[in-house]
Amino acid sequence: MKAAERIIVALDTPDPARAREIVESLAPDYAHFKTGLEFFCSGGPRAVSDLQSSGANLFLDLKLHDIPNTVRGAARALASLDVWMTNLHASGGAEMMRAAREELPDALLIAVTVLTSFDEDTFRGHIGTDSSVEDTVRRWALASREAGLDGVVCSPQEIRVVREEVGRDFLIVTPGIRPAWAARGDQRRVTTPAEALELGADYLVIGRPITAAPDPREAAQRIAMEIEQAEGSELT
Ligand code: C5P
Repeated sequence: MKAAERIIVALDTPDPARAREIVESLAPDYAHFKTGLEFFCSGGPRAVSDLQSSGANLFLDLKLHDIPNTVRGAARALASLDVWMTNLHASGGAEMMRAAREELPDALLIAVTVLTSFDEDTFRGHIGTDSSVEDTVRRWALASREAGLDGVVCSPQEIRVVREEVGRDFLIVTPGIRPAWAARGDQRRVTTPAEALELGADYLVIGRPITAAPDPREAAQRIAMEIEQAEGSELT
C-alpha cells in the first residue's frame, strides 16, 4: 500500500461545504476520508454521495449497534451508498456482526471494540464484569474476525494486543495519531504515525493535524513522508 493510502482524513464537521472543501484540497492523492454520525444525521445520504463525487473514498463511521434484524436493515440500506468502509460495535454480538457482513459484502466492515472513553473502572462497573478492558478488546477483536469482518478500530495502546490476537491478515485502523510537529489538541495519549505502524496499524485516522493546518496538502505530504520512512526502516 502507498503511504498516502494509509491515511484516513477525519472530516469532523457537520457542514457539507466545509467537508467538500477539504476533500477537494486533498483528493485524488489522499482519497480516504472519515465522516460520522454528526455529518450523516445532518446531511444524510445525499451529503455522503456529494463527498464521494468529489473524490472521497468514505469511511462512514456510524458504529451500528442494535438487534441483528435492525442492523441487517441498516446495512442493506448502507450498501446502496457504496461506501469504502463502515463500522459497528462488536458488543452487539456475533449474530449482529454476521447480519451486517451479509448485507455489506463489498465495503470494508470493521468493529469498534471497547470505546476509549471508558476507563477500566467505569467499564467494569457499567458492564458488570471482572474482565479487563484489554481482555475484552482481545475477545471482541477475535469475535469480529470470526464473524467475517475485515478489521477493528482501536486506540494505539491496543494495537499490539489486537495484532497478537488476530494475526496479520486483519485490518487495524487507529485514531489518536499526532506527528511530533502537530498540536495534541484534546488527544491525551498520542502516537506518531511511525510508532502506530511499527505497532501494527494498517490505517491511521488523522484529523486536525491535516484539516486545521494552514496548508492541509502540505501537512498530509509530511505525514506520508514519515510513513514512507517508517515503512522503509521496517524493511531494513
Ligand atoms: O483531529 P483528530 O486527529 O484528533 O481526529 C481523530 C478522529 O478519530 C476524530 O474523528 C475522533 O472522533 C476519532 N476518534 C478518536 N479517538 C477514539 C475514537 C475515535 O480520536 N478513541
